Amino acid sequence: MTAPVMCVVGARPNFMKMAPLLRALAALDPPLPTLLLHTGQHYDQDMSHQLFDDLGLPRPEVNLEVGSGSHAVQTAEVMRRFEPALDAHRPACVVVVGDVNSTLACTLVAVKKGVPVVHVEAGLRSFDRGMPEEINRVLTDQVAQRLYTTERSAADNLQREGVPAARICFAGNVMIDSLRASRALARSPSDTLRAHGADPALLGHAAGWGVVTMHRPSNVDDPATLAALLGVLAEVAERLPLVFALHPRTRANLERFGLMGRLDPRRMALLPPQGYLEMLGLMAGAALVLTDSGGLQEETTALGVPCLTLRENTERPITVEQGTNTLVGRDRQAILHHAAETLAGRGKRGRLPELWDGQAAGRIAADLAQWLAAGAP
Ligand code: UD1
Repeated sequence: MTAPVMCVVGARPNFMKMAPLLRALAALDPPLPTLLLHTGQHYDQDMSHQLFDDLGLPRPEVNLEVGSGSHAVQTAEVMRRFEPALDAHRPACVVVVGDVNSTLACTLVAVKKGVPVVHVEAGLRSFDRGMPEEINRVLTDQVAQRLYTTERSAADNLQREGVPAARICFAGNVMIDSLRASRALARSPSDTLRAHGADPALLGHAAGWGVVTMHRPSNVDDPATLAALLGVLAEVAERLPLVFALHPRTRANLERFGLMGRLDPRRMALLPPQGYLEMLGLMAGAALVLTDSGGLQEETTALGVPCLTLRENTERPITVEQGTNTLVGRDRQAILHHAAETLAGRGKRGRLPELWDGQAAGRIAADLAQWLAAGAP
């Protein structure tokens, strides 16, 4: 019996990256056996289970059920619970994706046990070490043995940090594989609003609608910052109705800071975190997306929808250079200016980056099979 490829997921942005990879590994001839492990970093129906169904992900064979905690507690707990799972299953390698705490925690355990680590979406850098994800990315890439990148700048970043070129493979963007595979299944935005008791008439505005997501600690954990951002969103909403999918952290902070009342339901539909197919429908039809998510910057580029990123930097520069993304930070003037430009039909159009063609997982699977056959050098 061949040792399995252990595929690790933990948090929402991991699921859409792993789904196409599992399919591609199964489609190899001969297929590579896989074992899906969920750390349980995200555990809610709408942060986790719904996405498994939407993406056609199989139930994980192992769920570590770590749940929430401080970064230290969460990372340590994943490590503690991952070790016996690794011992029990003796995989040929561990595949981790993205930059969440589960990514780094499982990497550290595996590499110290001599199990090769494969990192999908390697080499992205915001150059902002105040971001927990940046720490997770830098450290994972230092010790991973095979690194698959989504854009060419990633290899430069990795080589600058001393990662040997032979370990790096430019494979394209697996997230866009998921997007392409699911595009035709996207849910109707009106149904999505109706399902949550919001008025679908909001979507009938002449300008269309905008989609908002926000969950970065730097945007939502400080009351003054969050209040200021809500103020700008309210100004945008005067001209373009907004659909705001609230991450649990953001909702909790809005309630804690007494800011819920600042959101006018006549101009803004407030929804819980959405499933993948709901979000796809909302974004694909939107005039504009405002977000601090990493994934949405890429998805809007693939969909050709203008995106205003509420951050000072991005680890995905190709979305700005070639795609539809504009970095606006929390600058009120910049946000209003770019929103107005978009509404006037002068939003960024962009083009599809190289190898964001829906075939990235197939390239990774083929390379991985060869690499394992060569003894994971
Ligand atoms: C994590 C990732 C972030 C990613 C985001 C997507 C890290 C460091 N951060 O951030 O990169 O963009 O996921 O959502 O790994 N919670 C729930 N239900 C859940 C999960 C979380 O209510 O299923 C709440 C809890 O109050 C928890 C908080 O959300 O404390 C934050 O969750 P956590 O996993 O720590 O980080 P995210 O902010 O979700």
